[in-house]
Amino acid sequence: MSKGITFPLPMKKGFGATDRVDQWWKGPTAMSAYLGIMILYATWRGFMEADFWIFSDFGLSAGVGHGSGTMAIEENHAHVLSPLFSPLIVPGEYSWMPRHLQWISPAMFILIFPAGFRGTCYYYRKAYYRAFMQQPTGCAVSKPWDEYSGETGLLLVQNLHRYFMYAALAYLPILSFDVWLSINFHQGDAHAYGVSVGTLVLLLNVIMLTGYALGCHAFRHVVGGSSNDWSGTAMGRVKYRLWKFSTKLNEKHKEWALYSLFWVMFTDFYIYACTDPLFGWSDIVLWGGL
Ligand code: FES
Repeated sequence: MSKGITFPLPMKKGFGATDRVDQWWKGPTAMSAYLGIMILYATWRGFMEADFWIFSDFGLSAGVGHGSGTMAIEENHAHVLSPLFSPLIVPGEYSWMPRHLQWISPAMFILIFPAGFRGTCYYYRKAYYRAFMQQPTGCAVSKPWDEYSGETGLLLVQNLHRYFMYAALAYLPILSFDVWLSINFHQGDAHAYGVSVGTLVLLLNVIMLTGYALGCHAFRHVVGGSSNDWSGTAMGRVKYRLWKFSTKLNEKHKEWALYSLFWVMFTDFYIYACTDPLFGWSDIVLWGGL
């Protein structure tokens, strides 16, 4: 073949045109609905806890004296804190936050890193390039535009995935600490341990996020890469075990990615429903407590 000559595949032309006979559109359509709902929910909740004038009836966190609003269930000082607002930042109570930024919901600071981690994840890229950008529409399905420039320009940000991964790993101990706070009940000098439904919801959230983060392709490379000998030294054997563990999780990375996202949102919704009288839910203590 002479250099420079390309032979286009014999594909049908026109958005969505294809010779495929299966229901190829179902996956991307379901994915765009799923991701769309998750993004809208997280954005709405972030705005809900802010003190925008337009949401003045909603604004709970930013106004001094509002406490933690619908961000956390308080049961005898055992906090069940929403992962969207963890670590807890109540703007009016922290002098390090400039006054002119105090109208912003804490979620908008906190979610930068988890959102960056998911947004640059290899699996999510595939999902949302297809679902939202039609790049491609599907395998062997014609898309609305011809050009393809790869992950260049603004999309170079995808190269930051490894660094978002480091930040995301830091959230795991923070969220584990939230589970710990949820089992410590206090009243005056009295202290007791207890487990509520909220504790279990938080715990499952940490497990799901751990499965997602430790199965990350970048994490797998960090623990297993740059290694020529996996049996000769103790460090080599540890690396091998970690790599095998990460590989096991990586095989189901899609499932971890999708289910953990749902569970983060459900955890937040549970806490919201238990703290807003509109729903009338309460967090049932299953064992112990005060
Ligand atoms: S590749 Fe999905 S989280 Fe890193």
